[in-house]
Amino acid sequence: MVTLLSKPNLLGLTSMAKKVLVTAALPYVYAPRHFGHLAGAYLPADIYVRYRRLKGDRAIYICGTDENATSVVLEAVRLKISPKELCDRNYLVQKEVFEKLGMSFDIYSRTSLPIHFETVEEFYKTLHKKGYIYEKVVKQLYCPKCGTFLPDRFVKGTCPYCGAPDQYGDVCERCGRWYEAWELVNPRCVICGSTPVLKESLHYFLRLSALTDKVLEYVKQKGSKWRKATLNKTLSWLTREGLRDKDITRDYSWGPPAPFPKAKGQVIYNWAENLLGYISATKHWAADLGKPEMWVEYWRMEDTELYCFIGKDNLFFHTILFPALLIAHGGYILPENVVVNEFVNLEGEKLSTSRGWVIWLHDMLKKFHPDMIRYYAAAIAPEHKDTDFKWRDFQAKVNNELIANLGNFIYRVLTLIRKLYGGVIPEPGRLDEHDEEVLSEISKTAEKVAAEVERFEFKKGLREIMRLSSIGNGYLNAKRPWSNPDEAPSTLYVASQIIHALSILLIPYLPFTAVEIRRMLNLPTNLNDVRWRDLEKRLEPGHRIGEVKPLFRKVRDEDIAPEVEKLKKLRARYEAEAGPPRAH
Ligand code: MF3
Ligand code: ZN
Repeated sequence: MVTLLSKPNLLGLTSMAKKVLVTAALPYVYAPRHFGHLAGAYLPADIYVRYRRLKGDRAIYICGTDENATSVVLEAVRLKISPKELCDRNYLVQKEVFEKLGMSFDIYSRTSLPIHFETVEEFYKTLHKKGYIYEKVVKQLYCPKCGTFLPDRFVKGTCPYCGAPDQYGDVCERCGRWYEAWELVNPRCVICGSTPVLKESLHYFLRLSALTDKVLEYVKQKGSKWRKATLNKTLSWLTREGLRDKDITRDYSWGPPAPFPKAKGQVIYNWAENLLGYISATKHWAADLGKPEMWVEYWRMEDTELYCFIGKDNLFFHTILFPALLIAHGGYILPENVVVNEFVNLEGEKLSTSRGWVIWLHDMLKKFHPDMIRYYAAAIAPEHKDTDFKWRDFQAKVNNELIANLGNFIYRVLTLIRKLYGGVIPEPGRLDEHDEEVLSEISKTAEKVAAEVERFEFKKGLREIMRLSSIGNGYLNAKRPWSNPDEAPSTLYVASQIIHALSILLIPYLPFTAVEIRRMLNLPTNLNDVRWRDLEKRLEPGHRIGEVKPLFRKVRDEDIAPEVEKLKKLRARYEAEAGPPRAH
């Protein structure tokens, strides 16, 4: 074993492993999550954090619901329940769906908790003290009929930048620009539809303009390892016109109160507080552990690597606003990388939740094994461009790759070991060139997968794993151990080593399947005890395997047909109405 130098850290602990903090976009609580969210943020983050844990690092995965957005209040009005009730209900639904999908969160917190409100309060008091907050009387959209100001989602109009109709008052969903509600062209109140008027109100602004250079410096320092598109978009945002100061208070009562002298009755704007939810959630995790100071080790010490996983609609907030806030406050580490994914379309068209053109995860889980969903999400991960969810493609990938390649290889080998050797790994004879070559593929694959995962190319990493399984199948077909008794012990010894390797390599991607393979191999199934370096180990001859079962049941036409039919009907309906939404 290699000895590592250890450095004492804040809590007087010594740690040999690196600290890794992984976050995935905190889901809005008002609606459930769909397949695109999984493929675009939660799954890649889970693959990464599971990989780092396998490597022995102290890696934690932080997530939780984003509960202070205006969308919560609007949805609660629509459902005729209180916002709190909506949050409580949906929080549990989201948490359960993520658990079923094997998201290995260390905490799934909520931004409605006192710990978050306290974090936000401290944070903004500090920013105020440091001169990053100033007050200004501004004109705000006000609905005379409803008698309220109309922040963010309470107003809709045409985007002042790109002309997209029907955009909310803060961010344009088409071009991603961030603007003030009064800049909207033809604004109207979403509750009553009337045209708002402008009314004066005292607001607090974040002096983002003063942070442009520091954020730019940070991006230049870290950005070379980011995805090209992420770096370019971020740089163009920073250099084209620099950052504009932003109004971060709202005349509104849902959310953390603004801790400024004359801000009574105002809250902090959702995008100025939700990002801090990553910090509060980490505090929540540490408190639950009984080590409330532990969060400091992850957020305030240089030897921690922070990775944020998000979809492209959240890019500005994570590559610019979040670092700006952390820099302004001081004493925090900054993201090493912001892993930004594109979108997953559905059957060739852009998602539309309002039109039902979407695959909800809770629906998909009712019919399909979570690892089938994870497999497909990783296989079509929108890492560099938008990709397309297609039911027939899902069926084909699961049946032809996951089952025909991986599942069958494992099942064939293990049933042969049971049939020919009573479930005991045979003593190999002299290994020939082919045997050695196949064995050498294990460490080669392990290296390739590690390299791909470390550069956030998860789809390629998965392909390498599947390649190892195909090599196994090819080897088996060439060696035919069922009709070649002389070589069978060597062949099945070698083949079982591949299965052992797969039981480790698959942990980040298909954790349920990895556990099941390990159970069949009669190996420890607590994944926390498995390490990447176990890939160097061999299953010993004489080791007795467990009971063998097929890993998956095929996706049948009957499983897919109703889903395809449902989408066909939807498409026909809105083609008749207004024409389909087009992928862009
Ligand atoms: N709630 C946002 C979404 O679902 C993401 C917020 S990420 C956060 O798109 F960190 F800012 F909370
Ligand atoms: Zn726009």
